[in-house]
Amino acid sequence: MSKILGSLFLIFWAMVLPCIAQDHSGFPKINVDLAKSNWRLNCQGCHKPNAAGITGEVPNMVRFIAQFLRVKGGREYLVRVPGVAYAALNDKETANLLNWMLKEFDDEHLANNFRHYTAEEVKKLRKKPFINEASIIRKKLIKDINKITK
Ligand code: HEC
Repeated sequence: MSKILGSLFLIFWAMVLPCIAQDHSGFPKINVDLAKSNWRLNCQGCHKPNAAGITGEVPNMVRFIAQFLRVKGGREYLVRVPGVAYAALNDKETANLLNWMLKEFDDEHLANNFRHYTAEEVKKLRKKPFINEASIIRKKLIKDINKITK
């Protein structure tokens, strides 16, 4: 009997452990409190608390930012832009912050099957930050966005 129980116990853990492990893999359930505090400390100085930005200097993200995900290069752009690539946050926190921002500021344009950014993806992309070219790339992406929304 105890042998059977022992085996059941092992089978139970064999099934449960991978699920627990996945939870720690960085694949992302959004940590809202962490995202909000990182946003406050690192981003809102320029972007403003509500993400509306500063006319002519910092772009508005409200009801807009998720549109970048609809055009080629946009997903990468959101990580390689200097404010994100150089943020004083680790990869996992940065992924969490981006996932939160997309939902918080532009749920309207966010696809239901939106694939969350992961720490691994952020790590890879932020190694190639946009430095001077961010605004040129942004203009091109906006053009592409306008093409598909017209
Ligand atoms: C010093 C001001 C400043 C800070 C701080 C800053 N940003 Fe930005 N951000 C900008 C500007 C300006 C742009 C427009 C692109 C460019 O020219 O860099 C931008 C663009 C972006 C974009 C692309 C959206 C778009 O419409 O182009 C994202 C996403 C973003 N920032 C996220 C963040 C996050 C997240 C933080 C905090 C971790 C942050 N930014 C901190 C100034 C800032």
